[in-house]
Amino acid sequence: MTLKNMLMWDETLFRDPDIFEIDYIPDQFNYRENQLRELAFLLKPGLKGSRPLNAIIKGTPGTGKTTSVKKIFAEIGEIKSKMLTVHINCQIENSRFMILSQIYRQIAGHNPSAAGNSYKRVFESIAETLLEEDRVLLIALDDANYLLFENELNNVLYLLLRAHETYPGTRIGVMVIISDMDVDLSRELDIRVTSVFSPTEVYFPPYSVQETFQILKERVQQGLYPGVLSDSLLDLVVDHTLRSGDMRVGIDMIKRATLNAEKEAKREISHEHIQEAYKISRFLHLKYSIQALRREEKDVLRILVELSRNDEQLTSGKVYTVIKKKLKLGYTVYYEALRKLDSLRLLNLQFRDGRGRTRLINLRYDPDKILQYL
Ligand SMILES: Nc1ncnc2c1ncn2[C@@H]1O[C@H](COP(=O)(O)OP(=O)(O)OP(=O)(O)O)[C@@H](O)[C@H]1O
Ligand SMILES: [Mg+2]
Repeated sequence: MTLKNMLMWDETLFRDPDIFEIDYIPDQFNYRENQLRELAFLLKPGLKGSRPLNAIIKGTPGTGKTTSVKKIFAEIGEIKSKMLTVHINCQIENSRFMILSQIYRQIAGHNPSAAGNSYKRVFESIAETLLEEDRVLLIALDDANYLLFENELNNVLYLLLRAHETYPGTRIGVMVIISDMDVDLSRELDIRVTSVFSPTEVYFPPYSVQETFQILKERVQQGLYPGVLSDSLLDLVVDHTLRSGDMRVGIDMIKRATLNAEKEAKREISHEHIQEAYKISRFLHLKYSIQALRREEKDVLRILVELSRNDEQLTSGKVYTVIKKKLKLGYTVYYEALRKLDSLRLLNLQFRDGRGRTRLINLRYDPDKILQYL
């Protein structure tokens, strides 16, 4: 194609490009009827003005946990009831103060008053608002595994679940959403929290081949023009999606493959367009995990990448001597960062038999790829 043709080319293969955006909430949402019904059952007391039952929502990434909760919360917003719902993204709101401020913002419609507020002050304002307006509160702590560091999950749950002790009459329920299947909350939570939490677990299993195919097919029908992606090539996308275990990879692949086809002014997606797309989409997890890191965690990761270029096995002790010199981080902060990078599956932290505290560290991604996203 000549440059002129390229600039003039305005035919698109997308019927609606928004369908493939990361925060798009699909109209069609199948295969989660049981989970939705169970969640509805748990929160129902809240609609009548009592405290909703607590829940732990568990399932690997991309199994529809966030979408389910957002859909239910949207429905609740449409009916007249005493219950207010607040969805918290713990990747962003990752401290007790930030979470409480966000809750206050959402129920009051404005920021907590005066800068320099303590979390206790903000919490008091939340409780007062609930009591004054006779409201029940249901909070979803989404991606709560981000709160496992520095004990924040315990701190937040303690405050929310024991609110009625300090502010009699408050009714607050919590849904904790966790995508890391290795996390065992009964081990992570303090006794002072578990004694009031008693959650019901709602499990989101991975989608089967057929389900994945159908979900992606619906997106294709809504988002692309007919004939752009054949069923047999969609099978290839499904294959890659199942291998990565995350529906997002499939959705992202379809978007990229379509853009690849458009770039070549083709009307149909080819095998190559999909393979090219997969080269990028398969790192979706890496990209989002890195985005969610704090500054010092990124610094630690960067040093790990540098050190991994020497052929030696990385150990937590050896790495720390470098970190101490370059970043001036304390050991505890450094070790918490390692734990977080491990739980995000960016690296693997392993005990070495009989050698005290030191751990073996192995990066799970190619160092160059990590640098690219850092
Ligand atoms: N049953 C479904 N029907 C249509 N789209 C779905 C379905 N399940 C998941 N998706 C889509 O897959 C993507 C991931 O879903 P969602 O964000 O709800 O997963 P999640 O379980 O919260 O994942 P994570 O643990 O990584 O946060 C979203 O784009 C969502 O629209
Ligand atoms: Mg989610």
